Amino acid sequence: MRAPNILCLGCVFLPLLLFQQISAQFPRECTTVEALRSGVCCPDLSPVSGPGTDRCGSSSGRGRCDAVTADSRPHSPQYSHDGRDDREVWPLRFFNRTCHCNGNFSGHNCGTCRPGWRGAACDQRILIVRRNLLDLSTEEKNHFVRALDMAKRTIHPLFVIATRRSEEILGPDGNTPQFENISIYNYFVWTHYYSVKKTFLGAGQESFGGVDFSHEGPAFLTWHRYHLLQLERDMQEMLQEPSFSLPYWNFATGRNVCDICTDDLMGSRSNFDATLISPNSVFSQWRVVCEFVQDYDTLGTLCNSYSEPTGKYDPAVRSLHNLAHLFLNGTGGQTHLSPNDPIFVLLHTFTDAVFDEWLRRYNAGQGFSIPEIITIAVVAALLLVAVIFVGASYLIRARSKMDEANQPLLSDQYRHYAEEYERIQNPNQSVV
Ligand SMILES: *[C@@H]1O[C@H](CO)[C@@H](O)[C@H](O)[C@H]1NC(C)=O
Ligand SMILES: *[C@@H]1O[C@H](CO)[C@@H](O)[C@H](O)[C@H]1NC(C)=O
Ligand SMILES: *[C@@H]1O[C@H](CO)[C@@H](O)[C@H](O)[C@H]1NC(C)=O
Ligand SMILES: *[C@@H]1O[C@H](CO)[C@@H](O)[C@H](O)[C@H]1NC(C)=O
Repeated sequence: MRAPNILCLGCVFLPLLLFQQISAQFPRECTTVEALRSGVCCPDLSPVSGPGTDRCGSSSGRGRCDAVTADSRPHSPQYSHDGRDDREVWPLRFFNRTCHCNGNFSGHNCGTCRPGWRGAACDQRILIVRRNLLDLSTEEKNHFVRALDMAKRTIHPLFVIATRRSEEILGPDGNTPQFENISIYNYFVWTHYYSVKKTFLGAGQESFGGVDFSHEGPAFLTWHRYHLLQLERDMQEMLQEPSFSLPYWNFATGRNVCDICTDDLMGSRSNFDATLISPNSVFSQWRVVCEFVQDYDTLGTLCNSYSEPTGKYDPAVRSLHNLAHLFLNGTGGQTHLSPNDPIFVLLHTFTDAVFDEWLRRYNAGQGFSIPEIITIAVVAALLLVAVIFVGASYLIRARSKMDEANQPLLSDQYRHYAEEYERIQNPNQSVV
């Protein structure tokens, strides 16, 4: 039994707000010594007369090779290691010229369409609907599970992963680019790992983990929206099915039961060991990637999929068995590892659906109506009076406080979350 789907979320999807040109990570074509030395990542789309004649689809007007304009605003005080991390002013540490696609064209070589568009000229609308996983037919459920498993096994056709930081990207001899192939699903895990990894400050120094670039901050929702869109797009290409969508899991409907933890969906518990996932689920065969984060942080390497920097290999540890049901076991998820569990996808599509609902409900990005403007003006005027009235006394008290920036905005809520955090041994492990 499950409650009806009261929240009609996910009925939504494209077009997306807040979505801009994807700056994908390392397109395979741009991982050559020449591309890295020149800083140019502008692959040919369909060259007719030799290499370099159709960079970014320029011959058909899809795009052009242009200088990268990265966000140059200063970092906030929490991040005091300017210039130490490859992710700053992305992707300038690697490339300073990339494809800029016109109109509805998109992709690292302008060969695809922006989300929401399809067709050779990217001029046909396509609506992709994310649905509640439990509302899918048996055939649709099987299709989704098989597609995830296929993504876990299929080498990503376009992107590879860097296994070293920019300083060492050309290898010890300066001539051997340090990249590896990765499967479509593992690329999804890797991208997440890359966004949360610590900043390496040098051998023997502790890496800086004080800022998580994709969690616990305003980027959380939009970054994960991008992250899901990337997986969805990759799976559409893999399946040759432009309308393929990731479903979502409304985890409230099952109450205290994981209603998607069945072998036809995300896997049930093993009958032999309650901490393991059932061997009848395909996911019991999945291996975990990006597991040795501490090693990467001390050695200054990057997660290179399965192989471990120190050379140890333990197949049992790397299977998903150990991570199964991690989300359902309190807050044990570890940020850098969490997407290894495919339930991550469904939790985040649901979060994204709630985000979408919020955007729609408050007309975000579409300005305000006249009654709203009047209401806002009146409320603002009243607030201003109130603020001036009590401001002086607070000012005096505020001066005595050590660090105003760290004071909670909503004290009740903050206290609640702080208590939750204290119960967790390692608070870093609570965010997925
Ligand atoms: C772009 O990067 C290349 C390679 O690092 C460098 O030689 C070149 O000067 C850079 N160009 C600009 C405009 O920064
Ligand atoms: C996308 O294509 C449609 C149909 O041709 C067009 O109306 C729209 O302006 C295009 N969008 C952009 C951003 O060029
Ligand atoms: C990576 O995959 C591509 C395409 O499947 C293949 O051509 C290439 O040889 C692979 N590279 C490595 C290092 O395995
Ligand atoms: C989480 O799992 C551990 C062992 O795997 C178990 O001891 C613990 O009770 C579980 N916690 C919850 C909240 O289920």
